[in-house]
Amino acid sequence: MRQVTSALESHSPLQQPIVHITVVVMVIMFAIMVLVFALLVAASIRYRKSRVQGEPRQNFGNAKLEVTWTALPFLLLVSLFILTVITMRVADPPTASSSGADPPPDIIVVGHQFWWEFRYVAEGFVTANEMHVPAGRRLLLRIEGFDVIHDFWVPALGRKMDAIPGQPNEMYFEASTPGDYGGTCAEFCGAEHAWMRILVVAQPESDFQAWVRQQQAVPATPIEGEAQRGAEIFRKTSCAVCHAVNGVSNGRVGPDLTHVASRQTLAAGRMANNPVNLEAWLADPDKYKPGSYMPNASLSQADLAALVAYLETLR
Ligand code: CUA
Repeated sequence: MRQVTSALESHSPLQQPIVHITVVVMVIMFAIMVLVFALLVAASIRYRKSRVQGEPRQNFGNAKLEVTWTALPFLLLVSLFILTVITMRVADPPTASSSGADPPPDIIVVGHQFWWEFRYVAEGFVTANEMHVPAGRRLLLRIEGFDVIHDFWVPALGRKMDAIPGQPNEMYFEASTPGDYGGTCAEFCGAEHAWMRILVVAQPESDFQAWVRQQQAVPATPIEGEAQRGAEIFRKTSCAVCHAVNGVSNGRVGPDLTHVASRQTLAAGRMANNPVNLEAWLADPDKYKPGSYMPNASLSQADLAALVAYLETLR
């Protein structure tokens, strides 16, 4: 599916006013630019040397002109200020926590170097890099930083929000139409800042509920073949120390892998999620994300294939 990434293509009632004010400001800026250029050109032609001898007549201390060029920009600034305040009220309505009451958020978003964790609070599961939401329902997000400051930004769906360690921020989030929306970390946070992508999948409510049930399910541990051997390798090597798989391990350093094979991309948007890419990624993470904290497990080719076979069962 086409991924919407443009901030000018609004798919949220929270982004719509931002698009609106952007267009208004652009139009005003363009009009001022045209006016300034027109005056420049007109003056250059009217007072060019061949038409006027010596300096043209000077016009000092013209009170009318000075009042005009002070008052007009002032009125313009005041109008833009009012428009900005209105936009902020609609695009970023105050959350209940800012009024004292503190309802739990729907999703806790945690920025890590270099991936995103999404904790679905009421539903009780954790996933990474791919956030599913019900289209048309307004959710409350709590944005946190695990290590350094990151910034959660899905341009077509609303404002940016900093993910600061020890200082959670809350904001409302809504996608009005089903679709795939691309976002990214918008605060420089280290070597792999560029590969800290977010994929928001907005679904009709019933599809979203089906996805939730799938994410809640504990995957069956394979009991035979390569996948079973892969599960052994997962448990006995460093994989299980950093990664959680519901029912198998509870590492929280790296992304939760309980349903990793159900996700569209690997390594926070670095590559499409398929067995070939998964094997390439596990064989040499540094080749694809130099500076990420995913270590090279240094497995033999056969063990690598078994591990991939296991991970592919995690749907
Ligand atoms: Cu995280 Cu930039």
